Parts: sequence; C-alpha cells; structure tokens
Amino acid sequence: MTHRDRFLSALACQPLERPPIWVMRQAGRYLPEYRALKARSSFLEMVKTPELATEVTLQPLRRFPGLDAAILFSDILVIPEALGQPYAFRDTGGIQMAYRLETRAQIDALAPASAIAERLAYVGDALRLIKKEVSSTGHTVLGFGGSPWTLATYMLEGGSSDDFARAKLLFYTDRAAFEALLEKLTAALAAYFRLQIEAGADAIQIFDSWGGILAGPDYEAASLRWIRQLVASLPPGFPVILYAKGTAPHLAVQAASGVRAISVDWTADLALVRAALPAQVALQGNLDPVLMTTTPEIVRAQAARLLESMRGRPGHVFNLGHGITPDAKIECMEALVDTVVTFR
Ligand code: CP3
Repeated sequence: MTHRDRFLSALACQPLERPPIWVMRQAGRYLPEYRALKARSSFLEMVKTPELATEVTLQPLRRFPGLDAAILFSDILVIPEALGQPYAFRDTGGIQMAYRLETRAQIDALAPASAIAERLAYVGDALRLIKKEVSSTGHTVLGFGGSPWTLATYMLEGGSSDDFARAKLLFYTDRAAFEALLEKLTAALAAYFRLQIEAGADAIQIFDSWGGILAGPDYEAASLRWIRQLVASLPPGFPVILYAKGTAPHLAVQAASGVRAISVDWTADLALVRAALPAQVALQGNLDPVLMTTTPEIVRAQAARLLESMRGRPGHVFNLGHGITPDAKIECMEALVDTVVTFR
C-alpha cells in the first residue's frame, strides 16, 4: 500500500493495519538541514522560491521515509501579504505585519480575491515540483492555509498578540466591517485552495490556530461559519482537515462543518473524542509536542498508549497535537515514526 493510499484511506475512515503518520510544521527549526538552508536564504525567500520550498518540504521525508505525508513549506500569512499587508518576523519572536488594519477603508482597499492566482502562483509552482519529486515514493502532499478568523487576528492586531483585543473589538463594535474582512479572506482562501488542488495537493489542512481564544457562543459567527463557507466552495468530497487549537467544546459542530477530518490538540483524550463524534469524520492527532523534547523511551511509551487507545477505531491519522517545536530531538522523532509504522 502506498503512503498516499494509506493516508487517503484513513481520511475515508477505512480500516487499516496501522494509522498513517505525519507531523505538523515539520520543516521547523529542529532539523539541521533546514537550519543550513536558512543560513543562506531568508524564510520568505525560501517560501517564494519553488525550488527551495520544494527542498524544505521534502527534507523531513528524506530523514524519516516512514512518514506518510509532507506538508507544503509556506506560511498562512502569504494570504494577507497577497492582499496587500506584508509581514515579517520580530527579532523577539512572533509576527509583525507591515501595518495594522484599523479602518473600514483599509479593509475595502485590500486586493480582491481575483489577485490570488497570480500573486501566489509560486505556491502552485512549488506544489507541482513537490508532486513530481514524490511520484517515485508515493508520499502524500498536503496543502494548507489559515482559517479566515485566524488570518483576521494577525491583520487586525498588526501581528502576534497576547489578548486579541483589537480583533474582538471589531467583531463586537462594527460587525459589518468585520464581515467585510472575513468575506474577503474567505474568497481569497477559496481561490488559494483551488490553486493548490489544481497543482496536485492530495488534501488541505485549515489552521484555525486562534479559534480557541473566542468566547464560546461567538465561535460560530467569528470563525466556524467562514470555514463552512470555504469548505463548501471546494470540489465536492475533496478532503479537508480542520486543525483548531483550544476548541474542544466545539468538536461536534466542527465535525458537522463539511470537513473530512478534525485535527485534535493534545489536551483532549482522542479515544473519548472518537466515541463522541460521528464515525465518518476522521481524527488526526494528538501527542503533546513537548514529548518530542524528552527521550525516545518516553516517546515510544506515549505513542504506544495513544495507538492502543485508538485500536480498532478506523479513521485515525497519527500526528502531534500542534506543530513540532525547534527544540524537538531527532532521536525522539525517529522513535515516534518507528513506533507508529511498526504498530500492528
Ligand atoms: O513543514 C512546514 O514547515 C509547514 C509549513 C508551515 C509553516 N507555518 C512554516 C513556518 C505551516 C503549516 C505554518 C502554519 C502557520 N504559520 C500557523 C498555523 C499553525 C500554528 O502554528 O498554529 C501560524 C499561526 C503561522 C504564523 C507563523 N509563522 C508564526 C506564528 C511563526 C513563528 C514566528 C516566530 O516566533 O518565530 C511562523 C514562522 C514559521 N512558519 C516557521 C516555519 C518553519 C519558522 C521560521 C524560521 O524561523 O525558520
């Protein structure tokens, strides 16, 4: 069975001998070969140069060929940039947007969704190169993007934020302007995902990384509604994975949003989530990423515990509960991949 067949079968909730495995934001700073490339080119140069983005995307597969999927090397913030709001990294860590969206006029002045195909053509070029490279190994290639709400937080806050007060302020005080922005982001993401699908992405993951900071009763109006609209705009049946952090109270409504799979953060007990959700929705997750900084023995034990808890329950894609961190140990990743691929 090819990596891709295993991955797509798991998303379709078909029974498998063992789950497929991949790791989110796997190109991250924990790999020496990534750091070597990064010493020569900036992050944005790598993102915008299809040959370099291809190389970074494939690095984890070369080191851990047992992984079943690779995720495109890019960033969720290429969408704000394509709409006219560039970004950079703060020296102290975190994101700095070139400016903050503060007025309705600024929202209206953002580029239309029709600009996406041309401005993000480099992403399609990278995906086509990646697909060509994995044609001999049969690996799955995942595209991705941020959720409309998560992107809106960076645009309204002007970068990373501790309290998301400005994004919430617009939601509560000027709902029409908020909806104009979210409408624009949803249309841009729809065009972006179509571009990725046409370039060969096997599935797409939506990162609703900041869905969990909303007041519970506002999750629908501020975030999930736009995700549902986005998913409905894609080719019927195309597999979409929804990752959201800190949204455990909303798992049931997420499962009914039209996505094929839900990526669950590490705070939930995955077997309990499985029991609570409809059988046709696949689950992805959910080891605590911190485990990757411990020891191979601890990783093996914790991965085995998760695998056992999901035994006999189809529709599991093994993953961490969030992205792998720069201080993750390579020997822990080796132990993780080995534990999953040898599980029977
Ligand atoms: O394999 C991969 O690398 C996948 C590509 C990927 C990146 N970012 C590359 C990246 C993906 C899927 C993302 C998603 C992303 N980007 C999210 C959603 C996932 C999540 O973390 O919840 C978010 C919120 C972003 C925005 C972003 N980009 C942040 C907050 C940061 C960290 C900034 C900091 O404090 O340094 C980034 C940078 C980033 N994106 C890196 C990578 C590999 C690190 C860049 C580096 O220094 O080399």
